[in-house]
Amino acid sequence: MLKVNNLKVSIGEVQILRGVDIEVPSGELHAIMGPNGSGKSTFCHALMGNPDYSQSGVVTVGETDISKLTQYERSAAGVFQSFQYPVGLPGVTLKEYINEINPELNDEEILELSKKFNVSNFLDRDVNVDLSGGEKKRSELFQLAVKKPKVALLDEIDSGLDIDAIKSVSSLINENRNEETSYILVTHYSRILKYLEVDRVHIVVQGNVVKSGDQELIEEVDSNGYTQYQE
Ligand SMILES: Nc1ncnc2c1ncn2[C@@H]1O[C@H](COP(=O)(O)OP(=O)(O)OP(=O)(O)O)[C@@H](O)[C@H]1O
Ligand SMILES: [Mg+2]
Repeated sequence: MLKVNNLKVSIGEVQILRGVDIEVPSGELHAIMGPNGSGKSTFCHALMGNPDYSQSGVVTVGETDISKLTQYERSAAGVFQSFQYPVGLPGVTLKEYINEINPELNDEEILELSKKFNVSNFLDRDVNVDLSGGEKKRSELFQLAVKKPKVALLDEIDSGLDIDAIKSVSSLINENRNEETSYILVTHYSRILKYLEVDRVHIVVQGNVVKSGDQELIEEVDSNGYTQYQE
């Protein structure tokens, strides 16, 4: 269970998040939608403990208050983020990276799992270096499966993907979804949400959750956009 209570985030003098409350029970997948620049990625980075932010509020994962923890400690507490723009790690192969994420997996298990995500060809290549957009997203989902986190933050896992890739990324999410993980999926488009079982949808505008609801809210946003929520 992820609980976010009154999360406020400032970067320098600018306040980006203005008191976000969200609860995601284990096993549930919540979608976060909202216009460009509304604070969705900032929300993910803040939960992951980006040290450039000053933040207040309380974030708990299960019984653990992670609000004051560093990025590394948050990761150890079970928080995983897949990035909107995954960065390359020259000098670190995917295999080495996977060994760090989960030292308990042996080579055979890693190979088997990597085949499921169609990333076995990348194991000996540097993480995210010279991968296509879609390949990076599969690599991120592979890391998610290796990590088995308590909280998974998927920031625009569908961005830059063609329609077949969206379908395959959705099936990878569905097939690997588990009851111990709380999922947050940030997206602009209802396309990917059609293929996923979404438990709840939150609309973020100007650093606030302005509306939460079920699947119907996705259709509402699809037809009417976000202007209705903007001042
Ligand atoms: N390091 C930073 N310094 C200053 N402003 C920042 C910084 N990071 C983010 N911002 C600002 O915070 C606001 C929210 O950005 P964020 O990336 O969270 O938006 P988003 O909702 O994810 O948008 P998009 O849908 O385009 O990905 C933007 O106005 C952005 O310019
Ligand atoms: Mg973003």
